[in-house]
Order: sequence, then structure tokens, then C-alpha cells
Amino acid sequence: MEQQLRTMQSEMDRTIQSVTDMKELDAIRIKYLGKKGELTVLLKQMGKLSAEEKPVIGKIVNETRAHFEDALQKRQAELKQAADTVRLEKERIDITVDRPAFRLGHRNPLQKTMEELEELFISMGYRVEEGPEVELVENNFDKLNTPLHHPSRDLSDTFYFSENTVLRTHTSPVQVRVMMRQEPPIRMVCTGRTFRFDDVDDTHSPMFHQIEGMVIDKNISMANLIDTLNVFVKRLLGEHTKTRFRPHYFPFTEPSAEVDVSCPHCHGDGCAACNFTGWSMELLGCGMVHPNVLRMCGIDPDVYSGFAFGMGIDRITMVKHGIPNIRLLYENDQRFLEQF
Ligand code: PHE
Repeated sequence: MEQQLRTMQSEMDRTIQSVTDMKELDAIRIKYLGKKGELTVLLKQMGKLSAEEKPVIGKIVNETRAHFEDALQKRQAELKQAADTVRLEKERIDITVDRPAFRLGHRNPLQKTMEELEELFISMGYRVEEGPEVELVENNFDKLNTPLHHPSRDLSDTFYFSENTVLRTHTSPVQVRVMMRQEPPIRMVCTGRTFRFDDVDDTHSPMFHQIEGMVIDKNISMANLIDTLNVFVKRLLGEHTKTRFRPHYFPFTEPSAEVDVSCPHCHGDGCAACNFTGWSMELLGCGMVHPNVLRMCGIDPDVYSGFAFGMGIDRITMVKHGIPNIRLLYENDQRFLEQF
């Protein structure tokens, strides 16, 4: 029996070590210590032993049992730890944030066009001026010779702050401000936001952008205006670009004109893009500064004369880049902005 016990013990040790999960381990416990387990059965046979054998074998049986339980417990702890490690690894969540490399943004295409236009005029000797977006009615209309009944003064066309302040409807009041504070010669441009009571559609927005230009000096004539704008348009849209001056009316210039440019696709031959007219867009308004305006701004029209022009920057930006919808310029959609 002693021999049997020793064999059983080494066999137990081996099987316990080879076990890889709790179920198997439990099966082994039952195999030896269960009601019909091998060790239990041996224990039950103890009664048949002689009085001398009993204490000797009893001791070995108890040792075997203790050893076995000990080994079982140890193995159980090992298996639990191994299982925990596997589980932890599996359930691991990476809470570190993968910080993207610093990305430097860039200007809105509108802003780019504005700066490009300013640069162009700076290179021709113009100074860049600024004026407020909330403007006096006096500067926005009165001093620009705008008759009291003129439709642009209407509440349905202009955002009024009060009876005498508006959101400027064009950049022309900056002409007034510059003339009021500076003696000729004057050569200025000004870019900025302008506002009109328009519904939003693909080509209109109640907030848009203009660039204004003005030259005041002795002997400034319409010829200077036409030449200046021709140089400007060619630099902006390419050497092949032709201009067409159409008579027009503005209260603050006389004579006044609207300027069209030749179609950038067919260069004036006529194509589907320009409705076979050869002319693509009405680019700007211009004219000789009205003597009334000069007078109201403190400049003697018998000594000085000048020209002025104004144009929408949004439209130029759209034509230049083939942008079909003005909303895109204001929506801050990165998918759009990243293309520039
Ligand atoms: N202010 C005019 C407009 O907004 C444009 C313009 C400016 C016309 C200067 C003539 C001279 O339509």
C-alpha cells in the first residue's frame, strides 16, 4: 500500500502540472479526492490494516493528501493568474491619443484674392486704406451725391442701424473719408466687407466684399481711368483679356461706366460659357469722381479731378477658381478650403 501511495503521489504531481484549465484541474481533484476517488478508496481500506501498519500508512496517506491539496491550490493560483493576464491583455484599451502633427492652416480664397488685388495696386503706387463697416449715412450716401429718393437708400435695400448709420452698402464711403482727411494727390485702394439686403442664392449674399480705388490729382482724365483698368485687368486675368466700357449711372461719378471683360474660355470668340457673346462678366463700376463729391469732401473741382472704381471680390474669386456657389466662401467647410 505504501508503494501504491508513492506511485499515486508522483502521478498526481505530473498530471497537475500538465493541466491547463480549471475544469481539468477539478476533474483531477474528483479523480483522487471525490467520493469514489483513488485516494478516498485507499483511505477506506485503512480499516483492514494491522495495528503496526496503521500509523505508518496513515501518516503517508495524510501527507499525500496534504501534498495533493497543496499542489492543487498552487496550480489553481497559477492558472488563475495566467487567465487574468490573457484577459487583461485582451481587454486592454489604448487611452492615449494619437496627436496629429501640427497643421498650419491657410487663408480663405477670398482673403487671398483681396491680398492679391491690394498687392497689384500697391505695385502701381496706391496706398491701402481702411474704413468702418458701420458707416454714417452721410458718408455712405450724402457725400457721394446720392439723391434722397435713390432706391439704394431704401430700407428694403440697406441695413440701417439708426436713422444716420448703416452697414455700408459699398466701399465708396472710404473715398469720402480719405478725401476729407487728405490733400490730393490721392491714390488709394480699400478692401472690405459690404452689406445689402439680399436673399442668399448661388451668387448673392447679404454680406460680400468689395475693393474700391480712387485717384485724385491735377489733370486726371477718363483716359487715365481706362488705361489703369486695362493694365489691372490684364494683370489679374491674363494678357489676352480685353475690356469693354459701357456707359452707366452712379450718383458719385460722371461720366460713369461698367466694365466687362472678355470670356476667359474663348478669349472673345464666343462659346457656350459666355452665351456666345465673347464677354464673360460685368467686372466693375467706375467713372470720373463727380464735382459735387469733390466739393462736399473739401476738394476744389476746378483744380483737381479724379477717377474711382469699385468691384466685387467674391465674384472675382468665384470666376478665378471656378467656384459655382458663393455660400462655399463662407461655410468654412474644410473639404472646400483645403483645395486652395
Ligand atoms: N460703389 C459702386 C457699387 O457698389 C461701385 C463704384 C465705385 C462705381 C466707384 C463707381 C465708382 O456698385
